[in-house]
Order: sequence, then C-alpha cells, then structure tokens
Amino acid sequence: MTFNAFYGTIVHAISINQLDIVSNGLLVVDNEKGVIVSFEREVDDVEKFLGKLDRPYKLHRLTPEQFVFPGLVDTHAHAPQYVFAGSGMDLQLLEWLNTYVFPAESSFKSPQVAKDAYTKVVSRFLRNGTTTCSWFATIHLEACKILVDTIEQLGQRAYVGKVNMDQNSPDFYIEESTQASLDDTRAFIEYTQQKQQSNALITPVVTPRFAITCSSELMHGLSQLAKEYDIPIQTHLCENHNEIEFTCSLFPKSKHYTGIYADHGLLGDKSYMAHCVHMTDDEIDTLAKHNTGISHCANSNFSLHSGVCDVRRFLDKGVKVGLGTDVAGGFAPSMLDAVRSSFFASKCTLMAHRDRQQEYEHLGTAELVYLATLGGARVLGLQDTIGNFVVGKAFDALIVDLGSSQGSVDLMGNETPLQKVEKFLFNGNDQSLAHVFVQGRRVAGSSVE
Ligand code: GUN
Ligand code: FE
Repeated sequence: MTFNAFYGTIVHAISINQLDIVSNGLLVVDNEKGVIVSFEREVDDVEKFLGKLDRPYKLHRLTPEQFVFPGLVDTHAHAPQYVFAGSGMDLQLLEWLNTYVFPAESSFKSPQVAKDAYTKVVSRFLRNGTTTCSWFATIHLEACKILVDTIEQLGQRAYVGKVNMDQNSPDFYIEESTQASLDDTRAFIEYTQQKQQSNALITPVVTPRFAITCSSELMHGLSQLAKEYDIPIQTHLCENHNEIEFTCSLFPKSKHYTGIYADHGLLGDKSYMAHCVHMTDDEIDTLAKHNTGISHCANSNFSLHSGVCDVRRFLDKGVKVGLGTDVAGGFAPSMLDAVRSSFFASKCTLMAHRDRQQEYEHLGTAELVYLATLGGARVLGLQDTIGNFVVGKAFDALIVDLGSSQGSVDLMGNETPLQKVEKFLFNGNDQSLAHVFVQGRRVAGSSVE
C-alpha cells in the first residue's frame, strides 16, 4: 500500500463561478483505493508534511509549467459514430441520421467491427483527458457488451447505454419488436451491473434514442426498467426544428416535446437530455421541476446547424448543465473542443443580444472549467465522487504539462496561473496531458512513464 503525492499548482472548480487555483498545493492519493486522502494548500516543507504519513509515498514535484486539473467529463457521445467523425457534415439532423448514422451504426451487428472501433474511440477519449464519458452505443446487445468490456480494459469511468429504436427507423436498423428491445435492455443492464460488482466505474444507462424512434409502449417500459434497477436515463431533446415538429406530431396529446418525456416517466433527477437547443420557458421549467440535467453539445449544434443553445437560460433556472462532444454530430473527440465550442456558442448569444441592445454575460473561464468537470459530474449524479479535488473523492485527474515540446502551447514565462489555465483550455491538446488518471490509475498520457 502506497501513496502518490502531487506537489505544485492545483486547479479546480469549487462552484460555477469559483475557480480555485492553489499554489504549493499537495494532493495525496491512496493508490490502492484511488481516492484523495489529503489536500493541503500553501505547503512549504513538503518532505516534513509527508514524513508524517504512515505509508511509503512517491512524491511528484510539478514544474512551473505543470498543474493538476480534474479529469474532463463528457456527458454525451456516440461511441459507434467515431468511425466517421469529421466527415459527412453537410446535412441537418434527420437527413444526417438517415444518410450517415444509421448505416454506420448498423455495421455494429458485427462484434469485430465493434471491438476495433470501440478500442479506438475509448483510447482516443482517454488520451484527450476524458476520464468520464456517458456513451450511446447501438441497438445490438452483443456490441454493447463489447463496449462495456473495452471500457473496462482501458480503465475509463463511464455510463453506457444500449440504444432503443422500435419505430420510424430503417429496416436494416430497427429492433425486432418492442418486447425484444425491452428484453435486450434488461439483459444489458444485468450484464453491466454484474461487472459493477468488480468494477464500480461502469454504470448502465437507459437510452431511448429519441421520441421519434421509440413507441409510447417502449418509453413506458424503459421508464419502468430505470426505476426497477435505479439507474439513469439519457436521450436527445429539442435539437432541431424539423425534429421537434415531427416529434410533436407523433405524440399530439403531450404539451410539448419535453412533455412527451415527462408523460412517459423519463424525466427525473437521474435523467439528462442532450442538446435542448430550442426550448420554451415552460419546457425549461419542466426540466427544473424534475431536477433533470442537460448536456450542452455546442460543436454538434453548429456542425449540424441545429441552432445555438443559450445555456445561461438553463443555469438561471437552476438546471444542471454539463458539456458533451456528441461525437460524431460534433466532429471533435475532445472536451477541450467542447469548452471552445461552448465559448463560441456563448459569444454568438452575446452578439445576438447586443444586436437587440440587450445585456448578456458570456461564459467565463471559471464557468467553462466548471461545466467541463464538476458541472458534468452533477449532471451524471457523480458530484460526490469526481469533478474536483476533495478528500474522499476519486483521483480522476490530468497532469497538464505546458512545457512539453510537442504541446501546442508556448509559455513566455510571465503568465499568471490563471493565464496558464486559459492557454491550456484554448490552445492545449493531448500532448499537453502528461498523465491521465482514473480512480488513481494512470490510463493515458503523453509523458513516457
Ligand atoms: N438524435 C437522435 N439520434 C441522434 C444522434 O445520433 N445524434 C444526434 N446529434 N442527435 C440525435
Ligand atoms: Fe447525440
């Protein structure tokens, strides 16, 4: 039994507008449990402090170019879509699904396709510092299990969902029946919960693709499964105008798109909805009432020209907000990109307000860090486990190194700690991540260990 001790600058979000930058900080991690056992500020004599520990320790003294940062939390990504990420960005949502997504996802009927693609995508996300990810897989039970196995081998913390589709889907990519969809979902949940007994990092999540591809009976059944197994629910909501119109025409008894999910028991404090670009105040109030979170997928909202989501409207009403890459609606498998895209979306909203002579505050650095870490953790109900550095939480962390010669950041030597964090957020890449830890275990990093 040993400790890892990190001594240097430590950066994390304490709340949405409080960025804590600790100099001469000392984080001590219990290597066996992967948990933070001590977090001290302004430590002068580190050896003396560590001498008091009752176990052997390894001290990592960070350079002035390095800092410890919380692992990034991606609240929405499609693992099978990575195979075409960065291509096919010419269409809007519904046409894009039919043309690119459904044919690509249908190929995951083959376990070999799944194994190859899932190894690539999970490795890439880890290299980019995504220590926790909420994944959509496909409708195929076997391939979904392969995603769980792959994530387990590679060491990511993850929520994994088997996608449900029993209507309005092409013949080559639809489940046999509503009952088969529910049976496979139950089998997937049980498989994943079985794994959870030895690997607590992976959680199954009920994943109706969206209301268009799910019958009323299926959605009611999925709500029951989520309750029975006490697990979260993820889906898409109010992404694009055509989608909203078609959805509401399919469920005319509900008040609005958000009401459809409410009427089928799919909203609750463990639920989170991707996109939410075009929402009425009443819909946002409905999410707030159910304590349901959202995943803000700004790159995807631009790339599929769905629209610009004003996350401030959600934050002002107390709705939990995290960021999502939405690979491959979003082309970038990187949460640093999600931060930058969210920054642009916020500036777009600012400019629209300015044109109407209205005040608006764009997302600042502290808010962006929060959304990419602790905010995402709250959306996933993991705020007591990850998101920032608190004694008792898991050590899911990045050792950022802006001094590495391949990194895309050049320091001039006179930057404040805050400026270094901003340079990392806006110019950093995988080469700036010397080490990536999940639950205290090193799972990726550009530094040769
Ligand atoms: N809505 C339903 N399915 C999808 C998907 O795969 N990606 C996105 N962006 N939106 C969806
Ligand atoms: Fe999506």
